Amino acid sequence: MDKKIKIALVFGTRPEAIKMCPLVKRFKQNSKFDVITIVTAQHRQMLDSVLELFEIVPDYDLNLMKPNQDLWNLSSEILLKTKEVFDKVHPDMVFVHGDTTTAGISALSAFYSRIKVAHVEAGLRTFDKNYPFPEEINRVIVDSVSDLMFCPTDKACQNLRDSSIKNGIIKTGNTVIDALLYVVNNKECNLDFIGLNENLKTILLTSHRRENFGKPLENICNAIIDLVDKNKDIQVVYPVHLNPNVRNTVMPILSNKERIKLIDPLDYVPFCTLMKKSHIILTDSGGVQEEAPALGIPVLVLRDETERPEAIEYGGVKLVGTNKDNIVSNVQELLDNSDVYQKMSKAINPYGDGRACEYIEDAVMKYMF
Ligand code: UD1
Ligand code: UDP
Repeated sequence: MDKKIKIALVFGTRPEAIKMCPLVKRFKQNSKFDVITIVTAQHRQMLDSVLELFEIVPDYDLNLMKPNQDLWNLSSEILLKTKEVFDKVHPDMVFVHGDTTTAGISALSAFYSRIKVAHVEAGLRTFDKNYPFPEEINRVIVDSVSDLMFCPTDKACQNLRDSSIKNGIIKTGNTVIDALLYVVNNKECNLDFIGLNENLKTILLTSHRRENFGKPLENICNAIIDLVDKNKDIQVVYPVHLNPNVRNTVMPILSNKERIKLIDPLDYVPFCTLMKKSHIILTDSGGVQEEAPALGIPVLVLRDETERPEAIEYGGVKLVGTNKDNIVSNVQELLDNSDVYQKMSKAINPYGDGRACEYIEDAVMKYMF
């Protein structure tokens, strides 16, 4: 009988699911692989909606999410529970994605079990251990224990070489573009349920980063109030992350304001449809910084640094931080100056051609067989 390679893909949050599900589907079509899906469920509802979209039923669901969970409990649970599954399944290789607690701790767990590790979305760095916290250190941990590192861009590959990693670095593009193209080409949906005014320009806002909890997020909310007051032709839609640290700040400031729609997190299909309809996107999200340039929507990033500098270099993304006046003036410029707007919306997408999963599969075949 032909040799089969047993691969386990571990993920737990919404963005990891969006970026890993296309890869799960790709591997499952290849008879050389025995594919095992393990979800930590670091996120519950936001993970399940993505699993449903991609019709993936996990083989192991660790069901770990607790309300307002902390890093210590979540990390220790992931370490112990993934060990149990690895002991039972004995994968030849474990795949993790990006920089979450699920990624960092599952990679460490696989390393302790002496299993080969593959890192999808490898090589991203700000080179500041506190920003983003704790994600920058999760990235370093995962890359340190990985045998294969699938980098979205040349810069990400170079970051790894600069940190003395010599082997296993492969540029593939980001699987988020695979997911995005699958949705925009096959699945767009009606957004009537949001109740947008078709005559107004839509500004889409998402913010959930730990560094922005408290005052920075208050500044962002107050900037939105200023912008909506000054510009009668705009509306703002904010699908508010389920993290209580986000909701407890945002809801009191922005609830029941004219032309500001606070809604629950959207499923991925309506969210992509909404991104496409938006005039401007304000975000601190990693994934949205990658998707919006592929759709030609200008993005203002509500952070002081980013591990995704490529789209800034190409012109589709600008860092504006969390100072209220700075956010207001940058949005106002995009609303008032069509040359600036056109330049940003015509920039090139640096994050891949939608075939990242195929390139990853090819590389794994070469490495394992
Ligand atoms: C996590 C990741 C972050 C990633 C983000 C994506 C870490 C340290 N952080 O941050 O890198 O950008 O996910 O969104 O790994 N909650 C729910 N239901 C859900 C999801 C979250 O109720 O489906 C609530 C729970 O109260 C949970 C809290 O949000 O305890 C925080 O979730 P957690 O994954 O710890 O942090 P995020 O801020 O989501
Ligand atoms: N997203 C979504 N619904 C929303 C907001 C975001 O499906 O209401 C998607 C978005 O398109 C992107 C991913 O979630 O693919 C980003 O997740 P998030 O911002 O939570 O995490 P990050 O990328 O910052 O780690």
